Parts: sequence; structure tokens; C-alpha cells
Amino acid sequence: MKQKIAMLGPTEKSVSYTSRRLVDEAKNAGLSLDYIPVVSVELRIRDRLEAFYGKTDLSKFDYILPRIDSKRAIIGYPVIRFLDALGVKKPYPAETIHIAHNKFLTLEQLVKHGIHVPETYLTASKECAMKIIEKQKLPLMLKLLSGFGGKGVMVMESKEAAKSVIETMTVLKQEVLIEKFLPNPGEDIRGLVAGDEVIGSFKRIAPSGEARANIKAGGKGVAYKLTSEMEEICFRCAEAIKSKICAVDMIESKDGVNVIEVNINPGIQGMEKATNLNIARRMMEFVKKEIKQ
Ligand SMILES: Nc1ncnc2c1ncn2[C@@H]1O[C@H](COP(=O)(O)OP(=O)(O)O)[C@@H](O)[C@H]1O
Ligand SMILES: [Mg+2]
Repeated sequence: MKQKIAMLGPTEKSVSYTSRRLVDEAKNAGLSLDYIPVVSVELRIRDRLEAFYGKTDLSKFDYILPRIDSKRAIIGYPVIRFLDALGVKKPYPAETIHIAHNKFLTLEQLVKHGIHVPETYLTASKECAMKIIEKQKLPLMLKLLSGFGGKGVMVMESKEAAKSVIETMTVLKQEVLIEKFLPNPGEDIRGLVAGDEVIGSFKRIAPSGEARANIKAGGKGVAYKLTSEMEEICFRCAEAIKSKICAVDMIESKDGVNVIEVNINPGIQGMEKATNLNIARRMMEFVKKEIKQ
């Protein structure tokens, strides 16, 4: 019998390149895949816990692959919590959503696992933030806690500019973290972990005059083989945030390799293009192995 898996994605309409590729490669790997918009899952608390999509009982799947972005984290969290309780196989438990969709909590978790990250500060007090900024060297980074794709990352060349952003963010009731800028050649290195393998890696190079190397910010992806130290870091990050599938973003700076973020919902378009590898296939082969275990 075909193994049945489900992908919990954003709404049907916004099916992305990554979702499409994963659906196709699941088929090629001989898996039967249902695409379920996470917002359409119905959670029931009666005598017991149940999770349904229409008439489909989510506890019957052999594996569930969540593709929950930060916009859907509020409903994603209880859904994954129910799946934890129902004993469904998947790459991570509910608590990972809280950690991974918050850049500050991610860094906190990484440091606890002995991983090198940039010096970072968080406070909800404007006055405290101003004092922190006063002590920093320039440039410095300000980041929204749950930004992605380079949006929400600001490079501040002056303390006045940083302070005015903090003032604006306080009005908007948006907390930002203050991070040390790591001098680097405008490159961000990504390793994609699936279980005990790094199934792909590449480097993103920022356009000139731009500090962010994200593809969405105009960065260019090129194939790049991780050093064994970087591979080791990737596995430790996956363990730190308790996710069997994740992308680890690193910057090589004067003081060595720093991890700047870990993504549990990585897009694969940039990586497939830069490496010419079938990353979606590799992910599905990993899922197949997980089902067998
Ligand atoms: N501390 C830092 N020092 C230097 N460059 C950074 C730093 N943090 C992030 N960057 C650059 O900005 C980009 C986006 O930052 P990141 O924290 O990964 O946010 P996002 O989730 O939006 O990708 C990175 O890919 C990297 O090029
Ligand atoms: Mg990033």
C-alpha cells in the first residue's frame, strides 16, 4: 500500500514553487500526498483530541510535512500540538514553531547549545534600547523578531537613524532586536539539513551596496560546499531547535562561523537553481526513511 503523507501549507491559492515541487516529487517517490491548507484544519476537543480536514482524519497519515510560515504560526502552533498528542510523525514538535518564528528565541536556543551567534539585545523599553545603541559600534543591525526574506532587517549606519527607527517601532508596538553587524563579504551561507544529512548547500551574494544577501533582496545564489565545521554546526542547530528539517544560515566573519538564523520553512527555489540538485526529491527520500523508522 502507498504511504500516505500530508503537507500542511498556506492557503491553496498561494501554493509556492517549493510546495509544488514537493508535491511533484512525493509522487515520483511513490508517496500519496494530500495538500491541506493549515487554516482549514478543524481541531476538536471533546472526550479526546481530534484533527480533521473535511472528512480526513489527520491522525491517519504516515507522515505530515508542515510548511507553516510565520503568518500562519498562530493556528499552526495548536495544529502541530494536536499532532504531537496524536502521535503523528513529522519533522518537529509544536514548541519548535515558537522558537523558530522568533529570531531572538532562536539565537537564545542556539547559544544554549554552544553555537556561535552575533551579539544581540532585546528590550521592550525605548530608553533601554537607546542606551544599548549608544554603546554599539556602527553599523548595527535592527531586526523585526519574525521577519523573513530580508524584510524587517535594517542596517543602521548612524546612531541617530537607529534611534529614530526604535522610536517609530515603539509607536507601532513592534519589538526589534539589536544585533552586532558582522563584517563579511556580503555573503550568507546556507545548509539544508534533513535528518543526519545536509541535502544541499549554497551561498547567497548580496548585490553591491546591499548588506542583505537574501534572494528576495536581489542576492545571487551560487553552489557552495560546506566545510566539515559548517556541517557540524548545521546538525547542532537542527538539534537545538528540535527540527529534523531546517535551513541554517551562516556568516563567515573574522571571529569564525556565526549562525544568524535557522529556518524551519525553507524555500528551495534558490537552492535548486544554484546547485542544480533535486532538493525536493532529497526531502521526500528523507520523509520515506522517516516513515520506515
Ligand atoms: N549580524 C549580521 N551582520 C551582517 N549581516 C547580517 C547580519 N544579520 C543578517 N545579515 C544579512 O542580512 C540578511 C537577512 O538577515 P536574516 O536575519 O537572515 O533575516 P531574514 O529572516 O529576513 O532572512 C542575511 O542573509 C545577511 O546577508
Ligand atoms: Mg535569512
